[in-house]
Amino acid sequence: MPERSAHRPVGGSGARLEPRLTRDGSYSLWSAHFGESFHSAEGALREARQVFMGPAELERFTPGHSLTVVEVAVGTGTNTATLLEAVERQGLRLQWWGLELDPAPLAMALADERFRAQWSPSVLERLAELGRSDRLLWGDGRSRLRELVGPLAGRCDLILLDAFSPRRCPELWSLEVLGALARLLAPGGRLLTYSSAAAVRRGLETVGLRLAAVPLPAMARPEPDSRQVWSAGTVASPTALPPTDRLRPLSPMEREHMASRAGEPYRDPSGRASAAEILASRARAQAGSGAEPTSAWQRRWGIERRRGVNGCSPGPAGGHPGRGARP
Ligand SMILES: C[S@@+](CC[C@H](N)C(=O)[O-])C[C@H]1O[C@@H](n2cnc3c(N)ncnc32)[C@H](O)[C@@H]1O
Repeated sequence: MPERSAHRPVGGSGARLEPRLTRDGSYSLWSAHFGESFHSAEGALREARQVFMGPAELERFTPGHSLTVVEVAVGTGTNTATLLEAVERQGLRLQWWGLELDPAPLAMALADERFRAQWSPSVLERLAELGRSDRLLWGDGRSRLRELVGPLAGRCDLILLDAFSPRRCPELWSLEVLGALARLLAPGGRLLTYSSAAAVRRGLETVGLRLAAVPLPAMARPEPDSRQVWSAGTVASPTALPPTDRLRPLSPMEREHMASRAGEPYRDPSGRASAAEILASRARAQAGSGAEPTSAWQRRWGIERRRGVNGCSPGPAGGHPGRGARP
């Protein structure tokens, strides 16, 4: 197991974080620094349940199983608390590690009555305990992740990857980070993310994982006669993911998106590059790739401009418009 953390939470970006309630009434934050919300505008809780916990399909595990989970970008702890709830309900045990740069989001959430009202006392207590424990590795997730690869290689049942969107925080979506996360997964383990970005999906396949899409909720789907098939997120695993009501194969539209220039992965071989450097090197690789321009893919599928289906669709840029837009 990793040594007790020598990294202490530093700084504090509380002043650049603004509490806000999402459409389902659940608590979230807006980050002025990243220019993005922590969760889908449709609902922080709804997203945690539909995009992360649903496709995790925890019913695969028998009561008493010790579930090993790594969470990238713990933030307010909404996903963590949703996981704690699900684990409690299913009678599972939990081995959890979290990566997070900034202690302010969790501290703000735990101090806010609107967040506290969402959870049972036992979940709140366990969340606060995890926040104080050496299982929460504070600092740049890129370097702290390396500490987990030795002890957890091939052991993780779940990885929750909930960084800000790739265009805003490419550091946590690079091929190198995705490769390290892939090494953590048990053979039947699953990496879950809200991102449907073509670059993230191609990156996950490049590091050897099999993909499935998280279907949009029925109310958010395009018209039945539309050829377009959008998704609410991505699941990746070392083994094939059979379709269920929470997972489906990628559609032809999504596969072609991955093959277009939009599928060019983010790269960060040093693990220390700035966001601007990562974006610039990807733009150069896209220009020289010979792949179909993303605009041609858009035209072929009748996609006129970046769009969002109730905040759940990735849109051609592959981000999460529901997170980017300020209400
Ligand atoms: C979208 S929010 C996470 C939302 C979170 N899962 C929740 O339920 O509240 C992204 C988080 O990534 C963190 N972050 C940004 N850059 C990071 C980095 N290089 N390493 C680790 N965490 C980072 C931010 O501080 C922020 O809390």
